[in-house]
Parts: sequence; structure tokens; C-alpha cells
Amino acid sequence: MAWGRESRRAVTDDDCELSEGLVCYCFKVTGPTLRALAERYGITRYEEFAPHTNAGQGCRGCRFEIEAWLAMRARRGDGAP
Ligand code: FES
Repeated sequence: MAWGRESRRAVTDDDCELSEGLVCYCFKVTGPTLRALAERYGITRYEEFAPHTNAGQGCRGCRFEIEAWLAMRARRGDGAP
């Protein structure tokens, strides 16, 4: 990664989209799986994925990506009860 002007741009909602591939490497959970669970169960907090997938319960390396995505969904009103 270059440390130039590009690295200082504002974070946008597009930056917070989940990957289409693996998000949680410890438990092999993909972005589409997390999206489907969030829609089906109205998940709004990171910890709520644990009973369904264990996502985020290992090294927690995926936690920031999942939390950023959930925060973006909340801002946009996606999945609002
Ligand atoms: S990558 Fe998700 S808990 Fe380790």
C-alpha cells in the first residue's frame, strides 16, 4: 500500500461492504452467509452471529470488518426492525 494522498481519503460506505469471499477465516464464514443471517434474524450486533456461525469467536481478526459493515447497515437503515 502506498502512503500517499489515496491513503488519506475519507472512508465511505463502499469501504464497509463485506467481502464476497471469506470474512471469518477461523470458521470459514463468507460475506454472503453473514448478509443472509443478518437479514433473516435481524442481526445488528457482532456478537449475535456467534450462535449461528461462530464468526468472530476465534482470533477476532474479522471483528472490525463485521462491525464496520453492521454500522454501515444501521446508518443506511438496512435491516431495520
Ligand atoms: S477470522 Fe474471524 S475469528 Fe478469526
